[in-house]
Amino acid sequence: MGLPHINNIKIVTVGLGYVGLPLSLRLSGHFPVTGYDVDPSRILELQDGYDRTGECSDQELATAAFHLTTDPKAIAGADVYIVTVPTPVDADNQPDLSALLSASETVGRALKQNAIVVYESTVYPGVTETLCGPVLETASGRVCGQDFYLGYSPERINPGDKIHTVDKITKVVAGQTPEVADFLMSLYGRLTNGKVFLAKNIKTAEAAKVIENAQRDINIAFVNEVAMIFNQMGIKTHDVLAAAGTKWNFLNFTPGLVGGHCIGVDPYYLAHLARQLGHNPEVVLAGRKINDDMAGFLARQIDRQIQLLPLKSETARIMVLGLTFKENVRDLRNSKAADLILSLQKAGHHVDVHDPLADPGEAKAAYGFDLLTGTAQRAAYDCVISVVPHKTYVAFQADDLVALLKPGGLVADLKGIWRDIEMPGEYVRWEL
Ligand SMILES: NC(=O)c1ccc[n+]([C@@H]2O[C@H](COP(=O)([O-])OP(=O)(O)OC[C@H]3O[C@@H](n4cnc5c(N)ncnc54)[C@H](O)[C@@H]3O)[C@@H](O)[C@H]2O)c1
Repeated sequence: MGLPHINNIKIVTVGLGYVGLPLSLRLSGHFPVTGYDVDPSRILELQDGYDRTGECSDQELATAAFHLTTDPKAIAGADVYIVTVPTPVDADNQPDLSALLSASETVGRALKQNAIVVYESTVYPGVTETLCGPVLETASGRVCGQDFYLGYSPERINPGDKIHTVDKITKVVAGQTPEVADFLMSLYGRLTNGKVFLAKNIKTAEAAKVIENAQRDINIAFVNEVAMIFNQMGIKTHDVLAAAGTKWNFLNFTPGLVGGHCIGVDPYYLAHLARQLGHNPEVVLAGRKINDDMAGFLARQIDRQIQLLPLKSETARIMVLGLTFKENVRDLRNSKAADLILSLQKAGHHVDVHDPLADPGEAKAAYGFDLLTGTAQRAAYDCVISVVPHKTYVAFQADDLVALLKPGGLVADLKGIWRDIEMPGEYVRWEL
C-alpha cells in the first residue's frame, strides 16, 4: 500500500491549542513538523514565543524546530496529518463537529497519495470513519482506505499536569489497516518511549477516550450527590471521604464543580451516540445533571450560611477565590465558578472575583467579570469562598483569611483546602 518510511516523513498538526501545541513540540523533536491553525492571533503569539495556554514555556517555544502557518496551501503534500481541533457541544448539549469537519475539508484539499490522517480530537465512536473519512474523500477526490488512510489516537493530556506529560503516558492508537496501525505505533512510540497501546480498531479507540471522561464525570457526580445528602445532616463529606478512603478499593474523588471542555462535555458525546442507537443513557446523563446543578446547589448553601451570620446583612460582600475551570490552569472555558458567581449575584450579593492565573481581558469577555488585581481591601468581606484550589490559595494561612474577612465573617471552603487551618473562634466556617 506504499506507506511512507517512518524515518522520512513530514507531519502537519492541525489546531494548535492545549493539545496540538505540546504535541507539535514533542513531534518536532523527531520529525519535520508544520503546525497549522485557523486563528492568526494564535500563530502570531506563538511566533512571538508566547503560549497563552501555559502548556509550553517561552524557552521551549524559542527553541522549537517547527514551522507555524495559517496558510492552508502551506500544508499540502505532508505524509501525516494529526487533527487536534475542538469538539465542543452546542447550546443544547449536542456535539458540535463543525471545527472537526472544516479541518477535515482543509486537510482533504492538501492530501497526497498514501497520506495518513490521524484524529486526536475527542469524538464518539464512528465519527472518524463515517463522518471525517467522507469529507476527506470529497475534498481530495481520493478514496479512503485506498489512496489515503485514517488513524485515531485519543489525547490524554491533563492541563496543568506537569507529571503525566505526552512522553510519560501510554498512548492508545488505532489504524484503518494493520499496516497503518504498525506505522502509528512506531510514530507515537517515539514520543512515549514505546508506551503505545494498539486498540482493536478506530471505533474502539474512539470509545475508550469518550468513556474515560464519562467515567470521571459519574464518579464526581456520585460524591457530589452524597455531599448534597450529608450537608443536610451537618456531616462533612470530606471527613466521610477521609474515613471511607482507608478502604483499599475506595475510589478517591472529591466533591466540586465540573467545568472545562472534556469531563463536562464528552459524556454528551456518548449520550448523543446512545440516543442515535435508540438507547436512553440514564447513568451518563444523571451524572451530567448532578454536576451541572452543583454550582446552583453551592450558591444556595452559601447564601443560607450568609443569612445565618451574626452580621445580619442580607446583601453580603463576597470574595471568590478562583475562576478558571480547574486548579493551576489559565483556561476559563466553561468555568462553573462563573455559574456560582452569577447565582450569588442574582441572590443580591456583591461579589469580587480573584484569580492569579486567569487573564483579566478574557474573564471580562467571557463572563463580564472585572477580576480583582492588586491587593484586596483589608477586612472588607462578609464571606471568602475557596472555589478553585490554585496553589496560592492552598498555601493560605489563618492570617490571610483574617485579613480579608470582617470579624465574624464566613469561610466557605468548597474544596476543603483550609481544613487544617485554625481560625479565631469568632469566624464562621462552612464546608462540604
Ligand atoms: N484540553 C484538554 O485537556 C484535552 C484533553 C484531551 C482531549 N482533548 C480534546 O482535544 C481536542 C482539542 O482540544 P484543545 O483543548 O486543544 O482545544 P483548543 O480550543 O485549546 O485548541 C484548538 C485549536 O484549534 C484551532 N482550530 C479550530 N478550528 C480549526 C480548523 N478548522 N483548522 C485548524 N485549526 C482550527 C483553534 O484556533 C485552536 O487554536 C478536543 O477534541 C478536546 O476534546 C482536550
